[in-house]
Amino acid sequence: MGLGHEKIEKNVGLLAVLTAVAVSLGGLAEIVPLMYQAEAIEPLPGVEPYPALELAGRDIYIREGCYNCHSQMVRTLRFETERYGHYSLAGESVYDRPFQWGSKRTGPDLARVGGRYSDDWHRVHLVDPRAVVPESNMPAFPWLQTTPVDGAQVTVSMQALQHLGDPYTDEQIEQAASDVRGKTELDAVVAYLQGLGRHAPRGAAAASEAAAAAEPAGNPSGEG
Ligand code: HEC
Repeated sequence: MGLGHEKIEKNVGLLAVLTAVAVSLGGLAEIVPLMYQAEAIEPLPGVEPYPALELAGRDIYIREGCYNCHSQMVRTLRFETERYGHYSLAGESVYDRPFQWGSKRTGPDLARVGGRYSDDWHRVHLVDPRAVVPESNMPAFPWLQTTPVDGAQVTVSMQALQHLGDPYTDEQIEQAASDVRGKTELDAVVAYLQGLGRHAPRGAAAASEAAAAAEPAGNPSGEG
């Protein structure tokens, strides 16, 4: 044992300082690469920032607290993928701010609900859930069908997202208000729901390809 080592072991203060230095370096070595990995998550092919009407629908979804009962994350468990479809991939939600993964499921997960029902089904369901699912305890949201989408609000949302780095073009932002003109909040929420899972891998080949290229979103086995 070298003389230096003995000196450190007998000097508690020095030992504490050097231990702290060693632990910090070790911590940095683990954390720093993760920070760069998170930045490097690529959108899956076709995943783009939400068009105006869907973005409006997403904002309404959050305003109405739909996330209190609905998650949007299919976990990597067999019974989940059999029920909902391909498990969620991080590259699907790069433009979800804030993300809607969640773990509270009073109602079913909605990550793959797009295309599962017709627009009309959603309209009836949102206005009066018991009209289509008699045992449903989902609240009704009848005001959505009579409230127009606020074009100014959508424009501001898009500007904020562009500022955060989402690749909206200035033309898209200029168009936003006219894109949602004459639409109701119900139209917007239905458009948003019908887009959920649109870019999920489908079929066995796509699934294994995507699994090789991407990581599951969040903590896949985390029960909530
Ligand atoms: C208090 C809990 C609760 C809230 C809040 C809630 N839901 Fe639901 N939701 C449910 C339940 C329970 C079901 C299953 C029964 C049914 O289909 O109505 C459901 C079903 C659904 C379905 C059908 C899913 C499927 O795969 O069959 C959709 C779509 C949906 N909700 C959308 C919404 C939207 C959009 C909002 C917000 C505007 C919302 N929910 C708010 C509880 C809730």
